[in-house]
Amino acid sequence: MRAVTWHGRGDVRVETVPDPTIQDPTDVIVEITSSGICGSDLHLIEVLAPFMTEGDIMGHEPMGIVREVGREVTAVKVGDRVVIPFNVSCGTCWMCAEGLFSQCETTQNRSSGTGASLFGYTKLYGQVPGGQAEYLRVPFGNTLPIKVPDGLPDDRFVYLSDVLPTAWQAVRYAAVPPSGTLLVLGLGPIGDMCTRVAQHLGIEQVWGVDSVPERLERARRRGTRTIGTTKQKEVVAAARDATDGRGPDAVIDAVGMEAHGSPFASAAQKASALMPDAIMEKVMTVAGIDRMAALNTALEAVRRGGTVSLSGVYGGATDPLPLMRMFDKQIQIRMGQANVWRWVPDILPILTEGDPLGVDEFATHRVPLEEARQAYADFRQKKDGTVKVLLQP
Ligand SMILES: NC(=O)c1ccc[n+]([C@@H]2O[C@H](COP(=O)([O-])OP(=O)(O)OC[C@H]3O[C@@H](n4cnc5c(N)ncnc54)[C@H](O)[C@@H]3O)[C@@H](O)[C@H]2O)c1
Ligand SMILES: [Zn+2]
Ligand SMILES: [Zn+2]
Repeated sequence: MRAVTWHGRGDVRVETVPDPTIQDPTDVIVEITSSGICGSDLHLIEVLAPFMTEGDIMGHEPMGIVREVGREVTAVKVGDRVVIPFNVSCGTCWMCAEGLFSQCETTQNRSSGTGASLFGYTKLYGQVPGGQAEYLRVPFGNTLPIKVPDGLPDDRFVYLSDVLPTAWQAVRYAAVPPSGTLLVLGLGPIGDMCTRVAQHLGIEQVWGVDSVPERLERARRRGTRTIGTTKQKEVVAAARDATDGRGPDAVIDAVGMEAHGSPFASAAQKASALMPDAIMEKVMTVAGIDRMAALNTALEAVRRGGTVSLSGVYGGATDPLPLMRMFDKQIQIRMGQANVWRWVPDILPILTEGDPLGVDEFATHRVPLEEARQAYADFRQKKDGTVKVLLQP
């Protein structure tokens, strides 16, 4: 089959690789019809590169048609249309029963000390082959695939794999009081969807921050108020102006490690590109060289006693956090990979009834899998108005 594979920093290629096969009696093989490129994939071709292995298959936002089922699979059958969550979660362990699917105890990676395995997401998360490919092997066929109805385009459902539950969790974790104010940092696919979910859930004032004109314009078109700079001072000032000088009730950081505005960290990351991976793995897990600009802005902008909800992905361990300021401002923080199945029952009915979140027009680019290399480059450089790309094998 053809698949998007990793070959080094900034280097993904479309190659022919062996077809996946049923390995366990509960596996299913899905023929992929649409597969998103995510901001998390950008971490893999930059800061998380030391944890990648040449030839790894990328992708964790796939959907398609079941083509083969293991002998113990009863929940789906050949021909069913399914979306695959980015968490590889069993659905039956203690964590899954708690709704903490990204901490699944069956697929937790104890040797690397990380949570549930993720499709297409480094050896820290199980090195599971990803879904930017023609076919995908999916374990836990009775509990993991999300069955979706026929008759509507892929666009309607594909974001159940990641973008929708991630945004839903971020907004729920933000716990904005009725008639409150939410500030969303970053208007990439995740931040943009956060603003839509927040409005859908009735949050009165939703503000979005980014510096990319098309992304700001997209958010404004759907009623989000925008701040068109990522400079901390200006963002904080604008957010306070909008809230009687107090600051928003909650801030979602939908930026993560690719933040603009930390020149030191950025230089450290570039330097890291020149070091051998074995050394860099240590440096990344022990020392941490994140770009903390967005998180710092979130901590500064949020009102006293407010909540910071982190969906942007961070790595590293010893980044200086302004602990005294966090304590003094009495800030609550919630974060983590999205627990996809936790939110599916809330989201799926909204998608079948209509399109209040605007998912049908959410993708800016739908391209053949063969053009993935260019699509990655455009998404990374935010060229050609690229916000969300769906690869279509
Ligand atoms: N928690 C989860 O389960 C989960 C799931 C999916 C994605 N993510 C993470 O969410 C983050 C966003 O993903 P995406 O697909 O939207 O990616 P993206 O890279 O397209 O979006 C990030 C946006 O942030 C903007 N930005 C950069 N620096 C900023 C700053 N200092 N202040 C405000 N905005 C700034 C960029 O211009 C860009 O538009 C990534 O870190 C990704 O890994 C997390
Ligand atoms: Zn993703
Ligand atoms: Zn589990």
